[in-house]
Amino acid sequence: MVFEVTAKDVMGRIGKLHTPHGVVETPALMPVINPNIEFIPPYEMKKYGAEMLITNSYIIYRTKRLRELALKEGVHKLLGVDMPVMTDSGSFQLMVYGDVEITNREIVTFQNEIGSDVVTPLDIPTPPDADRETAINDLEETVRREKEAEKIHHSFSRENLLSVPIQGSTHLDLRKKSSEEANRIQGDVFAIGAVVPLLDSYRFADVARIVLAVKSTVSPARPVHLFGAGHPMIFAIFTALGIDLFDSAAYALFAKDDRYLTPSGTLKLEEIQHFPCSCPVCLKYTPEEMRKLEKSERAHHIAEHNLYVSFEEIRRVKQAIKSNELFELVEMRIRSHPYLIQAWREIRNHFQLLEKHDPSAKRIFFYLGRESLYRPAVKRHQEKVLNIEVEKREIVVSSDLGMRADFYLKPAFGVVPAELMECYPAGHAEMYGDVEDEAYLTAVEGLKKFMEKHRNRRVKLILDERWRRFLNEIQD
Ligand code: GUN
Ligand code: ZN
Repeated sequence: MVFEVTAKDVMGRIGKLHTPHGVVETPALMPVINPNIEFIPPYEMKKYGAEMLITNSYIIYRTKRLRELALKEGVHKLLGVDMPVMTDSGSFQLMVYGDVEITNREIVTFQNEIGSDVVTPLDIPTPPDADRETAINDLEETVRREKEAEKIHHSFSRENLLSVPIQGSTHLDLRKKSSEEANRIQGDVFAIGAVVPLLDSYRFADVARIVLAVKSTVSPARPVHLFGAGHPMIFAIFTALGIDLFDSAAYALFAKDDRYLTPSGTLKLEEIQHFPCSCPVCLKYTPEEMRKLEKSERAHHIAEHNLYVSFEEIRRVKQAIKSNELFELVEMRIRSHPYLIQAWREIRNHFQLLEKHDPSAKRIFFYLGRESLYRPAVKRHQEKVLNIEVEKREIVVSSDLGMRADFYLKPAFGVVPAELMECYPAGHAEMYGDVEDEAYLTAVEGLKKFMEKHRNRRVKLILDERWRRFLNEIQD
């Protein structure tokens, strides 16, 4: 088995990806190594937390010295590492420059010859907002190349893996079609492509829609890679949407531009007075001292910090999955940018998908704002309450938790049986006083269904002012 899932939360998972060079725990971040540019040496990447790297086979192929070395000794020797190495195909160059001097057959063969752990076909990254006809034509060619890659790859009969890119631009039906085709190809990793322009312009909701379209279609048995996503501010949200692999050139690209990554966004070095980080670099230098360093040394240090903070965030996300607190982490992270909040709200349209993946037993429910209402625990609770057997002819429902009643009212959840007041989720929900109106409205929806269900009984409602107001509002 190539991929096993060992823990789940929201739609995220912790998994083990088996490659010829060892097992990688996911979600994983693969630092991008440019084989032509000496920056952070690949063999040092382990120090920051990397378990797997990604490099570009097209750059290796085009550079005679690198090509010959890679063919003779393999890509791992070329980079000086023994950890797993994924290779990309030159498709990104295709997107940026419009053309590459290589065929799909050549580059897939080459990646196999140099011993890549994960081989990538030369897919066509159709940019966002492309017209439908272009997206369809590009996708047909991508699928043709993936089928060709499948044949070539399997003729090598090695243990290495095949990545199957998913394209379709911003047309969600085409992303789904691409996913269906990918399911039929004997590959090991699904890779969602051509999202870099969307990420660069903070169009996170468009990326979320694409990821949800793909995740609703692809087999859950294989890992999903989000090509070119490497900023720590998006690891929590996209892991929660089901992404298992990220790759980062961001650590280097941002560093060369004096930009300092944090899990809540990017800071310019010139505007930092205090480093909000305790990595070795940030402990050694003050921002003032860092600014005085010579350009290339400065870039190197910022890149180091960027790597430390990126892997720290990956570990934080993994721990959140383990402790079933990924909703809480995501709801915290999305507050660092309005477009992340908007992106997360896309899950409202995918309740069934979420319901299918999110585990139902957790320890605690921290209500952190209206996005907490989208958690399956809320809807699940309301459905469960409707199925509870009630024998009494007269039941008391109270919003005052201090008085005796058969059922109590809680914002978000609505009706909670007295005997479940000590249980997850409603009983274990921690909320602030004076929660948003939406939490009352959601609860009152549940109350209304409950009253309909028990219309043949006498339901005595003891409501405080606020509950009464919302009940009236909804009955009007
Ligand atoms: N890197 C960033 N985007 C892409 C993509 O769409 N395809 C491939 N192969 N690599 C990428
Ligand atoms: Zn730091």
